[in-house]
Amino acid sequence: MVGQIPQRFIDDLLARVDVVEVVGERVQLKKAGRNHSGLCPFHQEKTPSFTVSADKQFYHCFGCGAHGNALRFLMEYDKLRFPEAVEQLAARLGLEVPREGADDPRAQARERKRQEAVNLLEVSAGFYRERLKMPEGQQARDYLAGRGLSEEVLRDFGIGYAPNDWEGLKRHLGARGIPESVQVEYGLLVQREESGRTYDRFRDRVMFPIRDVRGRTIAFGGRVLGDAKPKYLNSPETPVFHKGRELYGLFEARQANAKLERLVIVEGYMDVVALAQFGIRNAVATLGTSTSEEHLSRLFRMVDEVVFCFDGDRAGRQAASRALETVLPQMIDGRQARFLFLPEGEDPDTLVRREGAEAFEDRITCASPLSEFLFDQAARGRDLAQVEERERFASEVLKAARRLPQGMLQTLLLGELSRRTGVNQSRFEALMAGHEEPTASPAASPGSPPAPEAQAAGRATPQVGEAALGLVGRVLQLLIYEPALVERLPEEEQWCPEGEGDAMLCRELVRLLRAGRYRSPQVVLAHFQGSAQGERLAALARREMLIPRAARAQELDGLVEHFRRHQMRPSHQEQIDALLARQGAGERLSPEERKQLMTLLAGLGS
Ligand code: UTP
Ligand code: MN
Repeated sequence: MVGQIPQRFIDDLLARVDVVEVVGERVQLKKAGRNHSGLCPFHQEKTPSFTVSADKQFYHCFGCGAHGNALRFLMEYDKLRFPEAVEQLAARLGLEVPREGADDPRAQARERKRQEAVNLLEVSAGFYRERLKMPEGQQARDYLAGRGLSEEVLRDFGIGYAPNDWEGLKRHLGARGIPESVQVEYGLLVQREESGRTYDRFRDRVMFPIRDVRGRTIAFGGRVLGDAKPKYLNSPETPVFHKGRELYGLFEARQANAKLERLVIVEGYMDVVALAQFGIRNAVATLGTSTSEEHLSRLFRMVDEVVFCFDGDRAGRQAASRALETVLPQMIDGRQARFLFLPEGEDPDTLVRREGAEAFEDRITCASPLSEFLFDQAARGRDLAQVEERERFASEVLKAARRLPQGMLQTLLLGELSRRTGVNQSRFEALMAGHEEPTASPAASPGSPPAPEAQAAGRATPQVGEAALGLVGRVLQLLIYEPALVERLPEEEQWCPEGEGDAMLCRELVRLLRAGRYRSPQVVLAHFQGSAQGERLAALARREMLIPRAARAQELDGLVEHFRRHQMRPSHQEQIDALLARQGAGERLSPEERKQLMTLLAGLGS
């Protein structure tokens, strides 16, 4: 665990950056009197109602109420988490972000090691880039030119060349005092088991640096210049590189787009780079693995829409089915996933080259929405004129629908299924609700039949329950099924909407679980027994939990994120306004008040 960022540092940071500059890099601003104004980036508008004040160091939109300081802006606009936004502002000023508890020697050692690795990998990337420019890089340059890549794209992606030499990089790093053991640890050298001798892992290959979201090189992929095998060689897993988590091109996509709305997931390095060459700068590639949940939750933190791109062959269809399975639990309202199938024998690289950027963009625009792909897949090879085949078709769609979080998409999907099969939607809803998950409902003991209100909120008439559940209800339900999930919640309470009912109950439940005494659903229910809150919780506990265990943590993260993003509550804004007004009037805020203001502005809780 990394320590908290000290408040002092954040205050200092905000005092040193200029919000006008930060916003101005992303939104076109005009000076208007003491302030700057422009079109609000957070809602659609034709006349500017977005202002940025250099004096007060905050922005405000009179149209949609968006509001905050430089940190808040980065969080909202670049979809960063609080610590990431702090990192980014700090990087502008060339500052290292200190962490509380960083004087813990173990944390210090870890941090030193990370620094060392970053440095080592950066030096190596520089080495490869230099070699590409030297005479020995001629063949590689020809190869890259033959694949249509310009100097500009080579530079943006930091592409280089590993010379045909067993010890080229080893000598280069050795001369800089980097021990061989470290070079081995970070995958740059290979060590022979028998002799212990070491040599360069990458030789005579075009080198693609793999960077993390902040642009630090964490690994490499290398391609042969001809047809030798293996075609691509990747860095092994190292302390800074985990294949199942990283996406090639994500940093570059964010660099190239002030505001990213959609990301296209392709298969290969060359696909990402070739698309960029044609001006399509929002493609990322998994690194020879299929798309994982972790990949997707990362991407959905930055954009609301992902487009999966697959080959048109059987392998491509299979990969698409796997991607569908993975993405279903993450489809909370407001997110979109689409599926693009390329003609057989083509990949994005060959296709964009053949058809050009516009045609490829058109394909992206026309990619099938998740529901369409799901229906197509379920209908594949079936004669829907036959009752039995229709039944299997419906079961398959229902199986997928169960994996979706409750929300609009699920409801719409069932509606569409009903339209296609001629079966009443309420039948499907009943079937969905009747589906038993391996984890039994914690409150359902054989001796106690569901109470009447639970029937109303639960399986008998699920449509009513749907409406009655609500987003906070979903959080409550997750917590009651799995109290340990409380660990994942942000420490600050601000994410939870204010108000009576579920919201109040949610705050109380979180406090209770945090206190740590109630870790089983039954004990929590017993605590509230006899109150209206107790009845509500019991009803939620009896209600079917449709989210599979493995997806619950992510569902909770998604909900919290949703609240954070969409709920700048009026009462908070009032508090902010009041504090800012006092500050604006030259009054000195107490340290507590400053901290509160920061917290409110950042909407935070990281
Ligand atoms: P492909 O074989 O489809 O390669 O592998 P490609 O991207 O079309 O490459 P070019 O166009 O021939 O240069 C897709 C991805 O699978 C991984 C790499 O990440 C590659 O980009 N891969 C492939 C490997 O890791 N090793 C291999 O030997 C081959
Ligand atoms: Mn290819």
